[in-house]
Amino acid sequence: MASHNLLLLPGDGIGPEVMGEVKKVADFLGKAGVATFETETDLVGGAAYDAHGVAITDAAMKTAMEADAVLFGAVGGPKWAKVPYEARPEAGLLRLRKDMQLFANLRPAICFPALADASSLKREIIEGLDIMIVRELTGGVYFGEPKEIVTLENGEKRAVDTQVYTTHEIERITRVAFDLAKVRRNKVTSSEKHNVMRSGVLWKEVATRIGATEYPDVELDHHLADSLAMQLVRWPKQYDVIVCDNLFGDILSDIAAMLTGSLGMLPSASLGAPDAKTGKRKALYEPVHGSAPDIAGQGLANPIAMISSFGMALRYSFGLGQAADLVDQAIADVLASGARTRDIAEKGANAVSTTDMGDAIVAALKRRA
Ligand code: IPM
Ligand code: MN
Repeated sequence: MASHNLLLLPGDGIGPEVMGEVKKVADFLGKAGVATFETETDLVGGAAYDAHGVAITDAAMKTAMEADAVLFGAVGGPKWAKVPYEARPEAGLLRLRKDMQLFANLRPAICFPALADASSLKREIIEGLDIMIVRELTGGVYFGEPKEIVTLENGEKRAVDTQVYTTHEIERITRVAFDLAKVRRNKVTSSEKHNVMRSGVLWKEVATRIGATEYPDVELDHHLADSLAMQLVRWPKQYDVIVCDNLFGDILSDIAAMLTGSLGMLPSASLGAPDAKTGKRKALYEPVHGSAPDIAGQGLANPIAMISSFGMALRYSFGLGQAADLVDQAIADVLASGARTRDIAEKGANAVSTTDMGDAIVAALKRRA
């Protein structure tokens, strides 16, 4: 039986609670003879700052670089509002993305039939929704230099963030989007704001060329990012794969998440380029939701986004597509049975706890395995 090394970085807030439920799923797959997972756990975010004064230590970074995959919970919270900018909790996540060169962030938004009424949108708009947002993750305004606040001669301050993309960065992320579209519904929508941004002009040009020369059979559209945001809440089922830069991807994927009923439902995979020798990609899997400090430690968090992020690890890092399907089906079974954590429960209805939800998913796995 294949064995895989996982680095678990639970982080802050609800991170440790939802990570606890993933461990149950991994243990189950080990017992069921699917694969064994050797896990190591380390600190990231505020938890790492409290222990070591940094958002992630060099030692944890080294383990991350060597792991077969990293599972990440969530970081941040009001407790660390005043820590130095370089050591803020989010810096741990950004360093992981940058140093591991995880340029491709896959954020699928799928509406489970049982949850069609949990969305703030009408059932017919989101029922059956299955879209994939491909977000560029190591470039753009998140990392562009200069990035600074300087004091001008008149004493006023001036803040600068830099939006920057090179041809190569746009080529490799659009290829990821086209490759995914080929095994989905064969349609890519590229999104930028070429009407106001130079980086948008280049983005559109490169996406058009890659589409025409390398993927002539995949349909390609271009939607301005603001209009796409509007279309996402108007008629999201018109999309298959959406590809966009780091900042637009951050915003559009939060919108997409809410279409599915709750931020607590959305997983993500962050992938690097395949290694020239082994073909393996560095990878980190994390829920799209944050650390939700307001509900942390109370057993209220929804572990589904974290568990289905592990499902993405099975699919994209370990070649265990069948096991990944099994996890997705188990989640669908549990939702169909009516179990709801508070975020997806109807007003006034009883909600199950984080651990109850995890246990129910493992029980559903057992029934299906
Ligand atoms: C996300 C988060 C991060 C981001 C934060 C925590 C830095 O919002 O993964 O979407 O902005 O990328
Ligand atoms: Mn975000």
